[in-house]
Amino acid sequence: MTLQVGVIGTNYLGAAHAAGMAEFGHTVIGVDIDADRVKTLNSGQSHIFEMGLEPLLERHTASGRLRFTTDYSEIADWADVHFLALGTPSGPGGAADLSQLNAAVDTLAPLLNKPALVVGKSTVPVGTAMQLERRLRAASPAGEGIEVAWNPEFLREAHAVEDTLAPDRLVFGTHSQQALELLEEIYSIPLTEATPVVRCDIATAELIKVAANAFLATKISFINAMARMCQAAGGDVSLLADAIGYDKRIGREFLNAGLGFGGGCLPKDIAALAVRAEELGVDVLTDFIRSVEAINEGQRTELAELAIDQAGGDVHGKRIAVLGAAFKPGTDDTRNSPALTVADYLHARGADVHVYDPQARLPQRHGFTQVTTVEQAVRGAEVVLHLTEWPEFRQLDPEQLGELVASRIIIDGRLKLHASTWLNAGWKVVQIGRAGTL
Ligand code: UGA
Repeated sequence: MTLQVGVIGTNYLGAAHAAGMAEFGHTVIGVDIDADRVKTLNSGQSHIFEMGLEPLLERHTASGRLRFTTDYSEIADWADVHFLALGTPSGPGGAADLSQLNAAVDTLAPLLNKPALVVGKSTVPVGTAMQLERRLRAASPAGEGIEVAWNPEFLREAHAVEDTLAPDRLVFGTHSQQALELLEEIYSIPLTEATPVVRCDIATAELIKVAANAFLATKISFINAMARMCQAAGGDVSLLADAIGYDKRIGREFLNAGLGFGGGCLPKDIAALAVRAEELGVDVLTDFIRSVEAINEGQRTELAELAIDQAGGDVHGKRIAVLGAAFKPGTDDTRNSPALTVADYLHARGADVHVYDPQARLPQRHGFTQVTTVEQAVRGAEVVLHLTEWPEFRQLDPEQLGELVASRIIIDGRLKLHASTWLNAGWKVVQIGRAGTL
């Protein structure tokens, strides 16, 4: 059955969700306070680099099944369900900043004249949904007729469309049968394709999302700690990850050692979880997360210090090439990018840092130089740093690049280059956790 769906917030999450809902056959209106973004989306274009998103936007804005507006009154009594897809960035002390969610429900509530289901997709501290429900009920003419449910999103940037259309699992956190049935109707297409679904209470749904991100972060920090161990003992962390990953209980994914995790989700979500656990007196979880964070931060410093060592102990006035600026390949997103932390660190110590990324444009605040080709980045470099594993970097010709650099030294911060090809071309290859190639 075709439903009328409102999606509030149209950044990564909301734009992909709105387009996905239209693809599932619903009529969708996306709402955002950013008029420029609304205009771009209405023209069938995407304001972000996300594989597969633009074709969906084009198709469904053209068919009339999907449109965007800045006016909440267009969705208020029109939508059968209102999805909240607002950002929850890091606030003071790492707690989640809920101001965007609060502002959205404050705008929506007075416009809701009849019973409505408001479904959260954002990542929030446990307890937020019930708070939002109270806030909505207090300010809406429909009062107790307003219900909140939680349906967290697990999409990965660079795979947002794929994850929206074919999710690994669906989580429906509800406190009424009616809300559950409505969610089942909305997701009838993935449900007929046998997508696993977890039906639960709202607190569990909120926690599932942060637990998933905390577990992924933990896997990464664990393997990075093992990389340090390999470094100290002379082992190879990549082979170690392969071997333990064959155990189905462990799994190979998210065991890629290197510069660690960044982006707009993992770091801020685990920081918010640590704060929430502390508020609830669950100190063991806070302490656990703090060590995951410490290992992650340590990787960035370790790598930057390695670069300084390789440059002879001082980078002042020396040219350093950085390959990669996005927090991971396949996206132009540089939020909390490990590559940029390393570049910043070296720039702060006087290095002349040249950065190349196939997609990401650097925020203005950075003092280093962004260039448009790998060759420009490496020309005259004392050390080359491979910090975001774009597939094209694996195709680089070490022989040809060797002609451009001042010293043939490359630090592979993502352990993804074919070390032997570089070694054969006379390069020194440095990889944390693969002491054999050092
Ligand atoms: C993450 C989760 O993977 C999604 O499931 C979740 O929905 C999303 O956050 C969210 O909360 O919205 P994303 O931020 O797109 O998705 O990024 P990931 O693919 O998880 O990568 C995060 C970071 O970990 C990247 O910097 C990546 O380079 C790093 N990483 C990943 C490693 O260092 N090693 C690995 O083995 C895997």
